[in-house]
Amino acid sequence: MARRADPARQDNTFIMIMRRGFAASVLAGISCWMTSRARAEPAPQGGSPLRRGREEPETSHPAPADRPGGNAPTAARATDETLYRPSVHFTPATGFMNDPNGLLHDGRYWHLYYQYDPFAPYAGQVHWGHAVSTDLMHWEDRPIALDMTEAGEAFTGSAVLDAHDSSGLFPAGTGGIVVLFTRATAKAQTQNLAWSSDGGTSFTEYAGNPVLDVGSNSFRDPKVVFHRETGRWIMVVALARQHRIIFYASPDLLHWTEISRFGPAGLPGVDYECPNLVELPVEGGGTRWVLFVSINPGAPQGGSATQYFVGTFDGTRFVPDEPVVTLIDFAKDFYALQFYENVPSGDPVAIGWMGNWQYCEETPTRSWRGVMSLPRRMRLRRDAASRLRVVQAPEGLEALRGPEIEATVGRLEAGHGVELPLPANAALDIVLSVEVDPRPSGLPPGDKGRSGRFIIGFANANDDLLSIGFDAFSGQVWLDREGLHGFSQPFFTESFSVAVTPDTRKVSFRIVLDACSVELFLNDGMDVGTALIFPTAALDRLRMETSGAGATVRDLHIYPLARAMNRVPPPPVSAPGPSPSST
Ligand code: FRU
Repeated sequence: MARRADPARQDNTFIMIMRRGFAASVLAGISCWMTSRARAEPAPQGGSPLRRGREEPETSHPAPADRPGGNAPTAARATDETLYRPSVHFTPATGFMNDPNGLLHDGRYWHLYYQYDPFAPYAGQVHWGHAVSTDLMHWEDRPIALDMTEAGEAFTGSAVLDAHDSSGLFPAGTGGIVVLFTRATAKAQTQNLAWSSDGGTSFTEYAGNPVLDVGSNSFRDPKVVFHRETGRWIMVVALARQHRIIFYASPDLLHWTEISRFGPAGLPGVDYECPNLVELPVEGGGTRWVLFVSINPGAPQGGSATQYFVGTFDGTRFVPDEPVVTLIDFAKDFYALQFYENVPSGDPVAIGWMGNWQYCEETPTRSWRGVMSLPRRMRLRRDAASRLRVVQAPEGLEALRGPEIEATVGRLEAGHGVELPLPANAALDIVLSVEVDPRPSGLPPGDKGRSGRFIIGFANANDDLLSIGFDAFSGQVWLDREGLHGFSQPFFTESFSVAVTPDTRKVSFRIVLDACSVELFLNDGMDVGTALIFPTAALDRLRMETSGAGATVRDLHIYPLARAMNRVPPPPVSAPGPSPSST
């Protein structure tokens, strides 16, 4: 994240933050998208004199007097709500949201705090927004938890339950929620503490703040965990520009001692951000420590991405098993993930921000921007090369599944497909596995890569197409949003791919499609692709097709998901039946 101070605002402490940050002949009937592709319209200008006349709204943010979404035309607001507003993902009612913060289960509620500019759909005047849930799906808004103050914006941080009052901040015999977060100005980034005695609704800032100041303006995003073996609190925090993560320890959350450093390691990018340290269970037994480091910009796919290292942590030092770095996602919209503290089941659960600093302030919603990923349960599994990899699965989503939409595909000969209608206004949870036939004999040499594809297309009457596919003989999966015509921007890269199954012609898919979001879990979460999608109308047709070789589809289940987020009155949902057809 690049930043700069706007001289027009320095005197009133408003710190301006600037962030920049195939499917050839696949599905019959989908063509001509290039000519019909809509250009992204320029984002609206706010009413503030500070904003008037600016050519690029991304470089500025409206003044507090501007009401959220107030500058969005009515028609745009309608599209924001009816077409792009997810129903099972958390989004802010209005304003701009990025990183999840302070993820904590307090014994009763799951708390979701988040980076929030309540005044406009641009990143700028950063507060902590807040919502609570009892099931990680239905979220209730709470008042803003941390404001901007003269000490700076309230940047990313974490929460812990100080149940035994190790901080001594709570009335005798009680404990409560403590948050550690970054106060950011153009000149300084420091770590600060605040505590809540009312269950995380309101916070008092510690009089001794900052609790950490190393004289840097790129020192941010503290994540605190309790280390049972040494009985102390551990903080990981990024020295962003130096590509280092500093580890601190504390007995009381107030006094912190540096105990080790990690990095530079893996991908440098420009800034290291939002570190997370977590002990993850290994499938089959045991645990391993994993250090997640978000980088921005400079990710291989462009912009923002999160890398992770698997290793050991002895209470002082994190040592990676090997100098190999892995990315948590193969697409572009899963960033700044944070793990929940105090999860009742003990299962590690994380949420990431579905966004990328390259285009998050230009996406085509006008009254709100920012989507949280589904909560994801994470663990480690050995891959074909025996390397431990983080695997992910949506947590709690099954509870929202409605009656299954009947659909049987079974075997498809080469060059054949089926199409079925989908309910236009419901999020969908789709699972299937597919096995592509062996390579047909008698192919000319060099024809390898062009044979044996299985393609899943989500389409509509507007020629929008979201294409997901498996190229069996190279063992790769693609996720391609190129055929969606609702948003175009140079950094809004269209196609992503991942190598999944080097030795088999089989792959399993779980696809969660929800308005402007798609999350693709492959092979039980071994690889995950998360992407924002902007069609021009609801994707109300599902096609499955083969090219080059036949394929067999097994265990296909399509579930509409009950609306969990009631930002808008639910539109009527039609539940159509299947209509298989040969292509
Ligand atoms: C990551 C990030 C953090 C920072 C926050 C500001 O997306 O840049 O490093 O604390 O966003 O909103």
